[in-house]
Amino acid sequence: MRIAVCPGSFDPITVGHLDLVERAAAIFDQVVVCVMANGEKRPMFTLEERLEMIRGAVAHIPNARAEAWGGLLADFARDQGAQALVKGVRNCIDFDWEYQMAQINRDLCPGLDTVILPARTKHLHISSTMVREMIRHHQKLDDYVPAGAADILRRIAEGKER
Ligand code: PNS
Repeated sequence: MRIAVCPGSFDPITVGHLDLVERAAAIFDQVVVCVMANGEKRPMFTLEERLEMIRGAVAHIPNARAEAWGGLLADFARDQGAQALVKGVRNCIDFDWEYQMAQINRDLCPGLDTVILPARTKHLHISSTMVREMIRHHQKLDDYVPAGAADILRRIAEGKER
């Protein structure tokens, strides 16, 4: 059984993230989306809220599921029996960062490799940062957030405004 982990902060999940999970699910037997804290970022959504959105977004992918994890990614991958991490890259800045992370994660868990998938051209401008900005300005999110997560996101975002 080939198992991959798709890690990220997913604050919130975007259509670019979902595309990555769908592509990983076509390559691996099982894909575990792992929502985590990024020590460098202060999130808009809690870990539980992000997990709920991801579960809504990946519900149509039979071999994908989502979990939250507060520790080291390498430990999560080991626990899941995963052989690979799958990361998406939009540009050389993303690649440079993911290349370094791949080396660190392999040091922490020998045998754990990282598969880097290039983002689709139509998703190059889409990021969670942009989506958060659009939420703050009450913009339409249909082209940026997966359909399965959009209603959940709207409900959570409205609750935060009250
Ligand atoms: O979507 P992001 O913010 O680029 O995801 C980054 C993330 C959460 C995957 C990264 O920060 C991470 O792996 N955090 C968990 C802690 C960890 O394992 N760090 C690497 C070795 S020190």
